[in-house]
Amino acid sequence: MSRAGSISTSAAAAADAARAARYDAPVAVIRYGRPGDEEQLVELGTTSYTEHFGDLWSPEALARFLAGQLSIERIRGELEEGDAVRYVVAERDGDLVGFAKILRDRPIPALEGERGLWLQQLYLLPKVTRQGIGSVLLEAVTGIAEALDQQRMWLDVLRSNTGAIRLYERHGFVRRVEIPWATDVREIGMWVMTRLL
Ligand SMILES: CC(C)(COP(=O)(O)OP(=O)(O)OC[C@H]1O[C@@H](n2cnc3c(N)ncnc32)[C@H](O)[C@@H]1OP(=O)(O)O)[C@@H](O)C(=O)NCCC(=O)NCCS
Repeated sequence: MSRAGSISTSAAAAADAARAARYDAPVAVIRYGRPGDEEQLVELGTTSYTEHFGDLWSPEALARFLAGQLSIERIRGELEEGDAVRYVVAERDGDLVGFAKILRDRPIPALEGERGLWLQQLYLLPKVTRQGIGSVLLEAVTGIAEALDQQRMWLDVLRSNTGAIRLYERHGFVRRVEIPWATDVREIGMWVMTRLL
C-alpha cells in the first residue's frame, strides 16, 4: 500500500473512532419503565442516593427513608398502574443506568395556583455520571411534558446540590422559592425550580 493510502486509512479509522465516541458516550436507550424493572430501579436509586446523600442522615434514618421511597412493592405497583406515575429509564447494554420519575399535572408547593409535570426523582449510577445521560433524560422528560400539554415542569432539589441546580438551570429551570427540608440530623432546605414550556 502506498504511503498516502496508509495515511488516509488511518485517518478514516480515526474519524470512525471519533464518530463512535461521539455517539456512544452520552447515548443510552430511553424508554418508559415497565413491570419487571422494579429490582433494577430500587438498586439504582439506592446506590445513587446513598453515594450522593447518605452522609446527610444517620444510618438508621437513611435505611428507613430508602425503604419508604424505594421499595420493590411500591415501585412495582407504580409500574403496573402505569399512568399517574411514570418512570423514564436510560438503558445501556441491557442494564438500567439511570431513571427519572415523573407525575403529571401536580400542584407546585408554595406556588399558589401553579401546576405542572413534576420531576420527582432523577438518579444515575455513579459510574455513568457526567457523560450527558442526565441531560438526555431531562430532554426526554421535557418532550413527554410537551406531548402531554403540560404548561410547566417543576422539581425540588436540595439547596446543597449545586451540581444538579447548575444542570437544571442550563436546561431552562429557574429557582422560584425555598422550602424547608431536613433529615434526622440536618436542616438543609430545598429549592423549588420550574420551567415554562
Ligand atoms: C444530577 C444527575 C442526574 C446529572 O446527570 P449527569 O448525566 O451526570 O449530567 P450531565 O452529564 O448531563 O451534565 C453534567 C452536569 O451535571 C451536574 N453534575 C452532575 N453531577 C455532578 C457532581 N457530582 N458534581 C457537580 N456537578 C454535577 C453539573 O452541572 C454537570 O455539569 P458540569 O460538568 O459542566 O459541571 C446525576 O449526576 C446524578 O444522578 N446525581 C445524583 C442524584 C441527584 O443529585 N439527582 C438530582 C436530585 S434533584
